[in-house]
Parts: sequence; C-alpha cells; structure tokens
Amino acid sequence: MATTIGAREFDRLREFLERETSISLGDDKAYLVETRLSEIMSAHGIGDYGALLVALQGDRPRGVRDLVIDAMTTNETLWFRDGAPFELFRDHFLPAWAGEIAAGTRQKIRIWSAACSSGQEPYSLAMTYNDVARRFPALRPECLEIVATDLSDSALASARSGSYGGLALQRGLPDGCLERHFTPAADGRYVVRREVRDRVSFRKFNLRDSFITLGSFDMVLARYVLIYFQDEFKREVLRKAHGALERGGALFLGSSESLPAAVPGFAMVRRGRVTWYQKSEVVARRLTVDAASSVPKPTPVPVAAAPAAPKSTTPDSDMAVLLKKLQDLNALHSK
Ligand SMILES: C[S@@+](CC[C@H](N)C(=O)[O-])C[C@H]1O[C@@H](n2cnc3c(N)ncnc32)[C@H](O)[C@@H]1O
Repeated sequence: MATTIGAREFDRLREFLERETSISLGDDKAYLVETRLSEIMSAHGIGDYGALLVALQGDRPRGVRDLVIDAMTTNETLWFRDGAPFELFRDHFLPAWAGEIAAGTRQKIRIWSAACSSGQEPYSLAMTYNDVARRFPALRPECLEIVATDLSDSALASARSGSYGGLALQRGLPDGCLERHFTPAADGRYVVRREVRDRVSFRKFNLRDSFITLGSFDMVLARYVLIYFQDEFKREVLRKAHGALERGGALFLGSSESLPAAVPGFAMVRRGRVTWYQKSEVVARRLTVDAASSVPKPTPVPVAAAPAAPKSTTPDSDMAVLLKKLQDLNALHSK
C-alpha cells in the first residue's frame, strides 16, 4: 500500500477537498493526507493515490468520497469551549429572552451551531438552557430549538448518540454537570440525558450550500470552522450567516477569531472577555461596548423591537411607530 503522496497527486487531492468542502490544505499538509487516508485506502483495496483520485471521481467504491471528506475534517472540540460565551448565554441572553417570552413578544429561541462536530457545543447550550430554565419558568422546553449541523458523518454519528467516553468527558465539563446532565451507561461511558438531547436536532450540512433551508436564527455559532477556509469563502459564509440571522441576532466566532472588515451589517459588541457580532442593518458599523456598561452604546436595535422579525407578535400599528424610530435612529447614527 502507498504511504507517500506525490506532489501532483497532493495538488489534485486538495483541489478535490476545496471543491467539495472549501477546506483549504496548506502546502505542508501532505503528511496529514497520508496519515488520515491510509486506513481508508487499505480497507478498500486502493493501492496508490492515483487510484484513490480515480475512485473519488466516480465515488467507486460507493461511499469512498464521503469517507475521504470525513477523514479530512478536523473535529477538535470540547464542552463549554472558551467558557465566557456560555456564561454570557446564561447571564445575559437567556434572561433577556425569558423576559420577552413572559411578556408575549417572543415565542421561540432558535440557535444554530454551524459546525457542531461531535455535539459538545450544542449540548453545552442545551444544558445551560435547562439549568437557567429552573430560575425562569418562561423558558419552557419547547421554546428552544437548537439546529446543529456538520459535514462530517462520523462526528454527527457521535453527536447523535450523545454517548461520551473518558477523554471527551474530561475536556471542559464544569463541576456538577456530569451528575445533572448525563446518565452512566453500562460500558463506562456517559450518555447525555434525554431532556438535553431533545433540545437539539442534528443534520448533515455543508456550509457551501444555501442557508435558506435552515430558517432564521436568534443566534448563530460559527466557531473554529472558518479557520479551515480561504478568506473569500470565509466572507461568503459570514454573509450567508447574516442572512440567516434575525435582525438583532447574534453571531459568535471562536475567541481567537474575528469578523473580516469586508463583511457589512454587523455591529461588534464586546462585554467582558466576550465579543460577538450583532446583526444590524441600522448600525452597520462596528461599535464597542464599554466592558463595565450593561447597555451597548449606541444602542443597536433591540432584538425584541425588530420590526421585521417574523416571530414578533407586535401589532401592525406598533410596527409603524417602531419603523419610524428606526429611521430616526439611522439618521442619528449616520450624522
Ligand atoms: C474544529 S471543529 C469545531 C467544533 C465546534 N464548533 C467548536 O468550536 O468546538 C470544525 C468542524 O467544522 C466542520 N466543517 C469543516 N468544513 C465544513 C463545511 N464545509 N461544512 C460544514 N462543516 C464543516 C468539521 O467537520 C468539524 O467538525
């Protein structure tokens, strides 16, 4: 069986990967191809990389394309990754949304975990929701829908099973979380409890595809996935994410990532250690919130007051007043 890949074959393989997934492999990543694909090649009797490229073209043996794509994704993740965004979700977003639900101005909260890997990110959100719901009865189970998507079949299979073993459990779970949100399984593993799993629906989805089929969201997490893409595709994903957000909705990237300047329609909001990007057609420029302040300055359009939000129950006459306020705000900020 072949163990080394030639320069031309490496180029053709990364062209394939970029075309199918937009994942961009650097010049120095030939070793990654070799280590990740050798097992698939052995299992399918594919003797060299030339034969693998032919197999990929016709997807013969059937399924080999998905296996190769799956193997070339990096599914590194952990529970409550970066910590602070989940604290913000617990202390800021959920209480605010609970207030809106209690006031009747909101029915649902929709969140998209856009590269969910093996499920730690969406389950961390669902666990936080269930914890906060104990203090805010308005946060009924059916009010939250988390859509969790990824391209990797194996990561999704693991996410759907909700079953985690030794190493995965040791990475990021806060004290008490295991007891509250998991049940021990016979094989020494732990399974995420049904009431957490019911909040999340998993779906295979390629970020190259149109986001329209997913509906619109109050929060989108596209964390630690854009790093694998070229700048142009990063911008495309972010523009599509903007389209998938409700007005006033929040976009989260990884803590070491930032929004490219060329993507309009977001206002940068910073609170403590967390930065997020608020969809705003009105304040379409960056703004920074004083870390000590509890209210963004200048105040972007409040989520609950968004006139075009389809989930709003605000009557039409109130809409007209809100629209006027928005126009005034816009005029003020453009001065
Ligand atoms: C490093 S993980 C990030 C997991 C999680 N968001 C986190 O922050 O812990 C990156 C994920 O992006 C997925 N991915 C890569 N390219 C993708 C694409 N074109 N469409 C959808 N998912 C993709 C990979 O399968 C992988 O699971």
